[in-house]
Amino acid sequence: MTQEKLNELLKDMSLEEKVGQMIQLPAEVLTGGGLVTGPTGTTQLTDEQVGMAGSVLGIKGAEKIRELQKQQMAKQPHHIPLLFMLDVINGFETIFPIPLALGCTFSPEMAEKACSVAAAEAASEGLHVTFSPMLDLVRDARWGRVMESPGEDPYLNSEMARAMVRGYQGDLRSKEKLAACLKHFAGYGAPEGGRDYDNVELSERTLMEDYLPAYEAAVKEGCRLAMTSFNTLNRVPSSGNKWLLRKLLREKMGFDGVVISDYSAVEEMVFHGIAADAREAAKLAVGAGVDIDMVSNAYAGHLAELVRSGEVPEKLVDEAVLRILTLKNDLGLFEDPFRDVDPAEAEKTLLRADFRQQARETAAASFVLLKNDGILPLRKEPENEAEEGQDSSCSGKGTVPSAGSTAWIGPYVDNHEIYGAWSFPERPEKTVTIRQGVEAKGLPGMSFARGSYMMDKGCATKFGRIPNPSDEQADALLEEALRLAASSQRVVLCLGEHKDLTGEAGSRTSLGISEGQMELLRKVRQVNPNIVTVLFCGRPLAVKEIAALSRALLVVWMPGTEGGNAIADVLFGDRVPQGKLAMTFPRSLGQVPVYYNHFATGRPNPPHEIHLFRNGYMDEVTAPLYPFGYGLSYTEFTYSEVKLDRREMKAGDRITASVTVTNTGGVSGVETVQLYLRDSSASVARPIRSLKGFQKVSLAPGESREVSFAIEEPMLRFYDIDMNHVSEPGRFEVYIGGSSDAENSAEFVLA
Ligand code: NOJ
Repeated sequence: MTQEKLNELLKDMSLEEKVGQMIQLPAEVLTGGGLVTGPTGTTQLTDEQVGMAGSVLGIKGAEKIRELQKQQMAKQPHHIPLLFMLDVINGFETIFPIPLALGCTFSPEMAEKACSVAAAEAASEGLHVTFSPMLDLVRDARWGRVMESPGEDPYLNSEMARAMVRGYQGDLRSKEKLAACLKHFAGYGAPEGGRDYDNVELSERTLMEDYLPAYEAAVKEGCRLAMTSFNTLNRVPSSGNKWLLRKLLREKMGFDGVVISDYSAVEEMVFHGIAADAREAAKLAVGAGVDIDMVSNAYAGHLAELVRSGEVPEKLVDEAVLRILTLKNDLGLFEDPFRDVDPAEAEKTLLRADFRQQARETAAASFVLLKNDGILPLRKEPENEAEEGQDSSCSGKGTVPSAGSTAWIGPYVDNHEIYGAWSFPERPEKTVTIRQGVEAKGLPGMSFARGSYMMDKGCATKFGRIPNPSDEQADALLEEALRLAASSQRVVLCLGEHKDLTGEAGSRTSLGISEGQMELLRKVRQVNPNIVTVLFCGRPLAVKEIAALSRALLVVWMPGTEGGNAIADVLFGDRVPQGKLAMTFPRSLGQVPVYYNHFATGRPNPPHEIHLFRNGYMDEVTAPLYPFGYGLSYTEFTYSEVKLDRREMKAGDRITASVTVTNTGGVSGVETVQLYLRDSSASVARPIRSLKGFQKVSLAPGESREVSFAIEEPMLRFYDIDMNHVSEPGRFEVYIGGSSDAENSAEFVLA
C-alpha cells in the first residue's frame, strides 16, 4: 500500500477503530489458552473491542494463526489484519542457547544466524513480531532476567543488538523474517536488590553511557518496535515517561517505529502511585508516546473517551495508529494477511537439519571452561593406567575402576529441559539430552545415573513449590550414583540451576544449586576425585566450592535443542571450548553487583588482597572468582607485548594497537582477543577499563597471528562534567588480552 493509501485508510477509520489498533489482546481472549507470560484473566473488553483489536500476543501454530486472522479481519470494519506477536527469545522450535550464552560466544555472526533461524521458524507459522532482543545491561546476578541479556558490557551488548536485529528483520517483507522489538526501555536491568519489577535509580550519566548504547545500536540497525519497561527509572515509570520515550528514544536516538508497553505496564502506573486510575494511566501513556497498550484495560477502557473529552488530542492517536499501520504495511500484510503461511511448509521448516547444526555449533561456542587441570578433553580410547592426578585412596570401598570408564551422573544427564525459561518448544523431546549426545559418540565404558533430584524438597520456584519425592527415593538415587562413581575411572557431574529459577520473576537471594546436588558432589568427591562438572545455569553462580571440588568446570548455561550433542562434542574434544564470560562470576553472593568496568576509589586495594582502611570487605577480596571475558581453551595462547604505531594522537588520527597471539598448546583453538581502554585522567571518573573491541582468531598449534585494533578519537568519548559527549586530552592505557584481567598494556596521549 502506498503512503497515500495508508493516510486515506487512517482518515476513514472511526475513533473506536483507531483505538482498537492500539490495543493488544492476550491470547486467552481469542483462544481461551495460549502461552502464559503474565497475569491472566484481567482483561475486560467488549466483543466489539476484541473484534477491533490490532494485535495479539502469545499464540503459536500455523493453522490457528491463519484461522484467527481470518476471523478477526472479518470483524474489522476495514478488514485490517492483526499483528501476531510472541516472545521468540532464543529460538522458536530449534532452541539456541540463552541470550547470556550467546553473549559468551563473542560472535555477533552466530547471534545473527541464531536470530535468523528463529525468525524463519516463527514466520513460517505466521508470526510477525518477536519481543526480542532484550538489551538490558545486567550487573546483578540475583535478577533472574540476566539470562535474557547479552551481558554486562555496553560494547558487547551493542554489537549483539545490531546482529540480532539484522538476524530477525533482514528484509522485512520476506516471509522468513520478523519485526524485532528492543526491550525493556529503559534500565530494567538494574532493579534494586535484583528484585524483578523493582525500581531503578541510575544517574543520567550512567544511563547514557552504560545502559543506552545497546538500545541505541538496535535503533540504528532499524529495529521496528521498542517495549517500555515495568520499572520506574529515577522515580518515573517508563510507560508514562515522556522524556524517555519522546525525547530520548524518538528525538535523540531517531526511533520512528512502534512503542509497545510491557504486559499491563500502563495500568500498573496506578500501583506505582503515578496515576489515580486506569483513565489517568491511559492519558499519561499516550502522552508519553506508548502506541500499543499490551494487555491492560487502560486504552480499551478510556482512550476514546479521553479524545472525545478533549483531554487527549486525536492527533496523538493518529500518529500512533499510522505507525502501527505502517508496520503492518511493511510486513506486507495488506497484500497478504497470511504472509503465505502454509501449515505443511511450516512443519518442514521447524527443526530443519541445518538449523539444528547451527544450534549445535552455537551452543558449543557458548560454553565457558572455567577450570581444567588437564582432565579435559576426555579420552575417547579406554586406557588402563590410573589418570594423572588420581588419588587411588579415594577410589571407593575397594572397587577397582574399570579401564577408561566414565560415569555420567546428575539430574541433567537424562534431561530434555535444557532450553531455558523463555522457550516453549512444541516437541521438547527433540532436545538432545547429554546421555543421547554421549551415546551417539558410540564410545565404550559410558554409564549413567541420576544421582539426585534437581531441586530440594519444598523448594520455591516461580510456579509454586516442588512436590518432592521421599527421602528414601533420594537416598536410593545417591547410593546408586556413588556405587557407579566409585567403580568408574572418572565422573562427569551434570548439575545446575533449574530453568524455573531464572527468567522473568526468577530473582533469587542465593546463587547456588540445590543442596541435594551439592551433597551429591561432595559425596562423589569422597569416592572419586576425578570430577568434571558440567554446570547448567541462567545466571552467574557463586561456584567457589564447586570449582574447588572439581578437576574441571564447564559452564553450559541453557544450551537448547542440540545441548547434549554440543556438550559431548566439547567434552570429548571434537570441539574446543572458546566461550568467554559475558558476565562476571562472583566469589560469593555478597560481592554482587560485581562487574569488570567499575570505577577506582580513593582507597584502592589490590583486588586479591584485604587491607584495613582500603576499599573492599574484611572477609573477602574484591576480585571476582572469574572475570568478564575469561574462559579457557584446551590449548594455551600467549600474547606478545602491545605495540602502538604512535604514542600520540589528535582528533581525526588513528592509532593501531597490535599484538601477536600464538597458540603454544597441542591442539587448534579459537581465542577471543579483547581490547580494553582506560582514560586515566578525566573530568569525571572513568571505568578502570572498558571493552572497545574484540576479534576471534583461530590458530593451529604453533601458529601465530598479528591482531590489530584501530583506536580513534570517537572511541574515547564520554559524558563530561557538563554532560557533553566529548573526549578529553590526556593519557590513555591500552590493554589487549584474553580477558578483562589482561595485564598486557601500553599507553598513548590524546593531544
Ligand atoms: C513481560 C516481559 O517483561 C516481556 O519481556 C515480555 O515480552 C512480555 N511479558 C510478553 O510476554
